[in-house]
Amino acid sequence: TRPFQVAIDGPSASGKSTTARLVAKRLGFDYIDTGAFYRCVTLSALQKGVDPSDSKNISRIAALASDAKIDLKTEFHASASTLPTTRVFLDSKDVSSDIRTSNVSKHVSVVAAIPAVRQSVVQKVRALGAEDIDSSAKESKQTATTSAPSSSRAGLVMDGRDIGTSVLTHADLKVFLVADSHVRAVRRLEELRKNGSQDALLDVKQVQEDLERRDESDRTRAVSPLRKADDAIELDTSNLTIEEQVDVIVKEALRRQ
Ligand code: C5P
Repeated sequence: TRPFQVAIDGPSASGKSTTARLVAKRLGFDYIDTGAFYRCVTLSALQKGVDPSDSKNISRIAALASDAKIDLKTEFHASASTLPTTRVFLDSKDVSSDIRTSNVSKHVSVVAAIPAVRQSVVQKVRALGAEDIDSSAKESKQTATTSAPSSSRAGLVMDGRDIGTSVLTHADLKVFLVADSHVRAVRRLEELRKNGSQDALLDVKQVQEDLERRDESDRTRAVSPLRKADDAIELDTSNLTIEEQVDVIVKEALRRQ
């Protein structure tokens, strides 16, 4: 048996991460942020002075991805209204804020498009989701037994770009979130302001352009591009509140459990 799996995919700033955290909290499930893994690999390269935009560095970045030890620890606070927070560790060092800088954001899509990087990350996150333990991936099984923090929970919510299409292809529930890019830009700016980020000084148009550029790169890359899985439910959140979108997903998960 494996945990109940909820896969949430969608473009940048579609509300995946907030939605996924709240769904996990409501269901008592674990939460796995796969974007954090690509961000860690990007940070690792930048810290070592390896320029991700230079194609000569692809094999070095692939090696960094394979060596990186990445751990996530999500805290589900007692108060109902508090959003669960995830701390991210790269080689045992807390990099939770370092991976959210605009420099990492700028380079992450290029890193995430490297096939060998995707292979390493998919292997690491699948081990956490305990996917295909019986059938394929013996390596995953090994990793799962050594580092599976998710086992104490009955299920997990994983968010990213390719969870439904290639990471957890047999997920019990797949959701594809979409929202108008202007709405997403406004939401992203609000979040940047709240976090006191320097990027909060950008205007909506710049943020929207950056989001659209990242979407384009995620949608058109050769390996596991961003797209809705055939068996995913598409949820347009442009006119929904976070509570409304969380409700839809929780209800559907409970119905399928
Ligand atoms: O979700 P987040 O913005 O942190 O993801 C950062 C980047 O990582 C995305 O822009 C995308 O390029 C990449 N990514 C991916 N596949 C995933 C999750 C993230 O390619 N499953």
